[in-house]
Amino acid sequence: MLKLGVNIDHVATIREARYRNRGFGEPDPVMAVKLCQAAGAHGITAHLREDRRHIQDRDVWKLREVAKRLNLEMANAPEIVSIGIKLKPDIVCIVPERRLEVTTEGGLDVAANEKSLVETRKKMNDAGIEVSLFIAPDAAQIEASARVGAQFIELHTGQFAEHFAVENERKTELQRLVSAAQLARTLDLRVNAGHGLNYENLAALFAVPHLEELNIGHSIVSRAVLVGMENAVKEMLWVMRGYGDAP
Ligand code: PXP
Repeated sequence: MLKLGVNIDHVATIREARYRNRGFGEPDPVMAVKLCQAAGAHGITAHLREDRRHIQDRDVWKLREVAKRLNLEMANAPEIVSIGIKLKPDIVCIVPERRLEVTTEGGLDVAANEKSLVETRKKMNDAGIEVSLFIAPDAAQIEASARVGAQFIELHTGQFAEHFAVENERKTELQRLVSAAQLARTLDLRVNAGHGLNYENLAALFAVPHLEELNIGHSIVSRAVLVGMENAVKEMLWVMRGYGDAP
């Protein structure tokens, strides 16, 4: 069964828009977690960015208490790595981070940062935390992820989402994801995916094999503004049903 991890960063984005640096305010990400889980979400994802633009340090400790399965997205930066080790999320997803980006733009360059990623991967695994690497659907990055010893890769679906509207471009991006998932499987990497997925483009992703979990944030939080968090999560789970069933 394809699992849903809801990224709740943008609940904190709304709070920070009004209550930046105040240490309190609404909406409360903890309440969002409870509603997501009540609606059937399998996991909760939060990104503690180095610039703390949305999720704050106090949030991650509260999230750890309420989330049944917590995926901490993080840069491979010493300060955040040490928070991750103390926090003990179930899994960390290591992502690239650039201060000026609106959201995580590209995948991690695992091939160019193998040594430091091996160190972080070992520290996390020694603390009982699984490790995922957020990468573009690119053979060199997948092979490097296997050498790093990560348990999971998260395939960056941003390009697929960007090119979704144009059929031949969508097919090209889908094929990249299909090949990437197949290669990852041969290297014993487990496969998640995320970024830019929404209620419209998600069904096309069913062509990609071996997916275990999708991490989806913006579209669910946006829909929640209109229909409520529980409904937004239930609707996404409905779109995800049937993945992996024989055609
Ligand atoms: N996966 C990763 C690694 C991400 O960085 C993000 C964005 O924070 C997501 C998934 C969710 O992307 P979106 O908000 O576009 O659904």
